[in-house]
Amino acid sequence: MSTSSQSSGALQAATEHRIKIESTGGIDKFFYDNKIVKWFAYATMFWGVVGMLAGLLAAFQLVFPQLNFSSAPTTFGRVRPVHTNAVIFAFVGNGIFMGVYYSLQRLCKARMYSDKLSKLHFWGWQSIIVLAAVTLLAGYTTGKEYAELEWPIDILITLVWVAFGWNMFGTILKRRERHLYVAIWFYIATFVTVALLHIVNSWEIPFTWMKSYSWYAGVQDALVQWWYGHNAVAFFLTTPYLGLMYYFLPKAANRPVYSYRLSIIHFWALIFLYIWAGPHHLLYTALPDWAQSLGTVFSIMLLAPSWGGMLNGLLTLRGAWDKVREDVVLKFLVVAVTAYGMATFEGPMLSLKNVNAISHFTDWTIAHVHVGALGWNGFLTFGVLYWLMPRIFRTELHSTKMANWHFWLGTLGMIFYAVPMYWAGFMQSLAWAEFTPEGQLKYQFMETVDQMRPFYMMRGIGGTLYLIGAVMMVVNIWKTVKNGKVVNDEAAEAAPLTKEYVPHGTDHWHRWIERRPVQLLVGSLVVVIIGGAIEIIPTFMVKSNVPTIASVKPYTPLELQGRDLYVREGCYTCHSQMVRPFRSEVARYGEYSKAGEFVYDHPFQWGSKRTGPDLARVGGKYPDSWHFNHMYEPSSMSPGSIMPNYQWLFENDLDTSVTAAKIRAMQTLGVPYAKGYDRIANRDLMAQADQIKGNLAKDKIEIKSSREIVALIAYLQRIGTDIKLQQKTEEVAGN
Ligand code: HEC
Repeated sequence: MSTSSQSSGALQAATEHRIKIESTGGIDKFFYDNKIVKWFAYATMFWGVVGMLAGLLAAFQLVFPQLNFSSAPTTFGRVRPVHTNAVIFAFVGNGIFMGVYYSLQRLCKARMYSDKLSKLHFWGWQSIIVLAAVTLLAGYTTGKEYAELEWPIDILITLVWVAFGWNMFGTILKRRERHLYVAIWFYIATFVTVALLHIVNSWEIPFTWMKSYSWYAGVQDALVQWWYGHNAVAFFLTTPYLGLMYYFLPKAANRPVYSYRLSIIHFWALIFLYIWAGPHHLLYTALPDWAQSLGTVFSIMLLAPSWGGMLNGLLTLRGAWDKVREDVVLKFLVVAVTAYGMATFEGPMLSLKNVNAISHFTDWTIAHVHVGALGWNGFLTFGVLYWLMPRIFRTELHSTKMANWHFWLGTLGMIFYAVPMYWAGFMQSLAWAEFTPEGQLKYQFMETVDQMRPFYMMRGIGGTLYLIGAVMMVVNIWKTVKNGKVVNDEAAEAAPLTKEYVPHGTDHWHRWIERRPVQLLVGSLVVVIIGGAIEIIPTFMVKSNVPTIASVKPYTPLELQGRDLYVREGCYTCHSQMVRPFRSEVARYGEYSKAGEFVYDHPFQWGSKRTGPDLARVGGKYPDSWHFNHMYEPSSMSPGSIMPNYQWLFENDLDTSVTAAKIRAMQTLGVPYAKGYDRIANRDLMAQADQIKGNLAKDKIEIKSSREIVALIAYLQRIGTDIKLQQKTEEVAGN
C-alpha cells in the first residue's frame, strides 16, 4: 500500500532510480514509478490537442480550400496523414503507454523493470512523432494509410517498440503477483501483434535514405496493407484500450469485473477473429472473391467477442448507476464503452457487401471511425487522465464542474461530427449511383461535392466543440497539477513470489496460462498468425489469384516519377483508383478494375475515400493542357472544386538523379525493365517530357520539360490505359 508520508531518505533513494528492495519479514518494500506515467500523460494531452488541431484544419480545408494555403506542406494530402498519425500513434499511443505503465506496475506489484528503458521508450516515441510530423509535411510518405512513415522511421519504431516490450516483459517476469490479470493479456497480445503487423507491412526496398518502394505490388500490397490497417484499429486502438478498460473501469467504480469467464472467451475470440477482417476494406475491389468473403464472415463473427467485452465493461457497473451519475470519470468511461459497442456493431454491418457497396469511399466510413476514435479512444483517455492525475499528484481534481462541461461539450461535439457525416455519406453514395429515367447518370461528380459543403461545415463545428472540451481538460489538469504535489516514486509493499505454487482444487483451467507470460505471448502470436497466413500466403503463392494481363506494361521512367509525385502529394487521400463492378461506376468512370492491372504498382493506390472522383480510368480522358490548368488551379477547370492548387509543381524541377535508382529498385521487385535500362532511363524520360511539352505548346502553354508537373501529367495520362476497352470500341462501331 502507498503512503503519502514517505521518509525523505527513501524518496531520495527512489529519485536516483536505483531502488533498493528492502525485505522485512517476507514483505518487499519498493516504489512505483509515477514519473514516467506523468510524462506519458503530458505527452498524451499535448499530442491530443495537436492531432485534433490538424484534424480540424483538414476538415475546414474541405469547406474552404483556401486553407490549403497553396504551399506544399499544408495541403490536405499532407495534413490528413499528419492528423491520422498524430491521433493514432501520438495521442492514443501515449495514452496506451500512460495507462500501461500505471496499471502494469500495480498489477504486477513491481516497479517497471528498467527506468532507463522507460526513458528510452518515452523519448524514443516522442522523437518518432516529431520526425513523423516533419517528414510527412515534407512529403516523405510510403503512401500506405497509417503506415506512411518512411523506412528509417520504421526501423526506429521497431527499436522503440522492442524497448517497450522488453520493459513490459521484464516487469512481468519480476512480478510479485502470480496470476496475470486480464488487462495484461491484452497488453501482451498488443505487443506481439503490433510488432508483427508493423514488420510485415513495412517491408520495403529503400532506394534513397528517405524513400522506398513497398515490397508488395497491387492486389497483394492492398491485402497486406489492409490486414495491417484493420489490425492497427484492432491491436492499437482496441486491445490495449480494452486492457485499460479492464483496469480503470473496475478501479473507478470500485467493483470487480463482471465476469472472469467472459473475459477469457472474449480475449481469445477477439484476437483470433480480428486478424481475418482486413479484406472488408476491399469489398468489390480486384481482391480475389474468396478473400473478400473470409473478411466478411470473420467481421460478422467479431460482433460476439466485441460485445462480450463491452458487456463485461458495462455490467461491471451493475448496481452502481447512481455513482455513474455523480462521478465524471465514470461518465467518460461509460460513454467510451458505449461508443465501443456502437462502433463494433456498425463495423460488422459495414462488412456486409450490400451495405459496404453504399458506405465505401464515402463519409459514412469517416463517421464510423470517429465514433470509435472520439468516443472510445478519446473518452476513455479523458476518463483515465481525470482519474489518474489527481492520484499521482495527491490532490483533488481542480474543477469537477469544468470536467462535466468537458463531458457535455465532447458528447455534443461527437454528435455534431457523426450525424452530418452519416447523412452526407449516405446521400453522396445515392447521388453517385442515381440514374435519370433516360438511363443517364443524374449528377456530375462536382454536384455531389457541392452538396457536401454544409455537412462538412457542421462536422468542423462538431470537431471544434470536441477540441474546446479537450482544451478545458488540459487547463483543468494543469491547475490540478499546480495544486498538488507529485509523488514521483510511490511507496508500496508486497510479498515476493515464492517458488512453489500449490494450485487450489477449484482453479479454473485458464489459470494455468495466466501464470506463464511466455506461453501467453507465444499463444497469442500463434492465434493471430493463423488468419493472416491463411489469407495472405495463397494470394502470393497461387498465380490464379492475380491473373496477369499481357498488355499491362511497366511505367515509363517519367510516369514512374510522376506516380511518386502522386504519392508524395497524398492524392490518394481524396482519390481512389479502383472502379468497382457496378453499373453506376462503369458508367461514370469506365471499365471496372482488374487485378492484373496493378502488378507493377509499388505501392498500390486504390485509396479509401472519394472526396474527388475515381482516377482509375482518367488516362486519356482529357488533353494534357486540361491537367496542366487543373493542377495549377482546379477551380479554373471545375468551378467550385475543393481540390488544392498545386502550383509548386510548376516551379520545382523533377529530381532525375534518382531515376536510375528507382528503376533498379523496381527491377529487384521483379518489374521487367530490360537489363541495364537504369542507365538509359533518363534519356527516355527527357524524350517523353519533351513530347508533353510539345503537346502543351500546341495549346499555347509554355513550360520547361524539366518541371515536376510534366511528370505528373505523364502519369495521369497513363493510369488505366493498359487494357483495351473492348466494350467502348464495340459501342463506337455499333453507332
Ligand atoms: C482535398 C481533396 C483532393 C486532393 C488532395 C486532390 N484532389 Fe483531385 N479532385 C478533387 C475533387 C473534389 C475533384 C473534382 C473537382 C475537380 O475536377 O477539381 C478532383 C478532380 C481531379 C481530377 C479530375 C478527374 C476527372 O475525372 O475529372 C484529377 C485528374 C485530379 N483531381 C488529380 C489530382 C491529383 C494528381 C492530386 C494530387 C496531386 C489530387 N487530385 C489531389 C479533390 C482532391
